[in-house]
Amino acid sequence: MTVPRRALAPGYTISRVIKGGWQLAGGHGAVERTRAHADMTAFVEAGITTFDCADIYTGVEELIGEFVATRSSGEVQVHTKCVPDLDRLATLASQELEALIDRSRRRLRVEALDLVQFHWWDYAQGDWMTALETLARLCERGSIRHLGLTNFDTPSVERMLRAGVPIVSHQVQYSLLDRRPAHAMAPQCAPHGVGLLCYGALAGGFLGRRWLGRPEPQEPLENRSLTKYKLIIDETGGWARFQALLTLLDAIASRHGVGIGAVAVAWVLAQPGVAAVIAGARDASHLADTVAGATLQLTTEDRAQLEAFLSESPVPPGDVYALERDREGRHGRIMRYNLNAPGSGSTPPVAAGRTDIPRV
Ligand SMILES: NC(=O)c1ccc[n+]([C@@H]2O[C@H](COP(=O)([O-])OP(=O)(O)OC[C@H]3O[C@@H](n4cnc5c(N)ncnc54)[C@H](OP(=O)(O)O)[C@@H]3O)[C@@H](O)[C@H]2O)c1
Repeated sequence: MTVPRRALAPGYTISRVIKGGWQLAGGHGAVERTRAHADMTAFVEAGITTFDCADIYTGVEELIGEFVATRSSGEVQVHTKCVPDLDRLATLASQELEALIDRSRRRLRVEALDLVQFHWWDYAQGDWMTALETLARLCERGSIRHLGLTNFDTPSVERMLRAGVPIVSHQVQYSLLDRRPAHAMAPQCAPHGVGLLCYGALAGGFLGRRWLGRPEPQEPLENRSLTKYKLIIDETGGWARFQALLTLLDAIASRHGVGIGAVAVAWVLAQPGVAAVIAGARDASHLADTVAGATLQLTTEDRAQLEAFLSESPVPPGDVYALERDREGRHGRIMRYNLNAPGSGSTPPVAAGRTDIPRV
């Protein structure tokens, strides 16, 4: 079984399933370096050669950088994110942005970052367009190969595209539960060749057999992902409706001899405008099923059953990331906005004994 690949830009190809790195940042349990590197090897050998991380995922760029240094050149593609702190937006200078990029290059041990996905917490603060133009200049200078976005709304993406900023991808939440990108974002991005890279496809693990028939979990949930995606379940009809979806997915998965997660991944990959699914992984325990999802072809019957179910299911309101952008709302309140500040960051990512991750 081979994981399909896709050109994200001329001369730049990625695997259609990307290994997500947030799960190695400390909020999903302790991380052990040797084990994490062995898992990365397993993903690459299974054909998932593209990794996602961010400058705000504590220790993850370093962990991936150490791994990439052991592989042959070009074998692994690493997508990071540039996420300036909320507290810095109002007066962010281009030198500061450039310093963030240089730090990611050092941590990832590369001359040029394969893809930088730009995020801006608050449109009302500072000048995100100027910041994006700074990143575009760094592309021309060779410290960034390709420029992408994450969590921008449709009008902002339209403005960037009209201004001719060379965007190749947009990372957004897209799943059987969260179908917000289908309304405006996907139709807008597709004609410009901007591929959607989709997180949340597994709803943090909720879209798995483990949750079938289980009672509604109560806070505090086990990890940061479950906390985030339980809110999405609440927006889309609640726990009873979610259990009905899992029951349907289980029936489809059984017909194909795969897990529910594979069906969830396959559904997102089949949506118009989707370039890849970013599947979060704490370890390699779901790897075989995730790879199965990369190649699974849903039948006409599968699609018709899902379509009938989804046509009666609520979609979270608004544009992509609209709920999350409200910092006072339920979705915004759980996020951390200043993880790039010196001394900030989530829990150290590695179990006791690991003290040698360089801090910048
Ligand atoms: N741009 C953004 O704002 C943003 C936000 C969130 C995430 N991301 C990126 O997207 C990546 C994905 O994270 P996510 O939050 O979207 O989580 P996700 O991919 O929806 O869920 C990941 C979790 O699902 C479970 N899982 C993985 N494969 C599975 C399978 N085949 N079947 C059943 N369960 C499976 C695992 O949980 P268990 O190990 O507990 O079973 C895993 O930790 C992150 O690592 C990060 O790189 C970006």
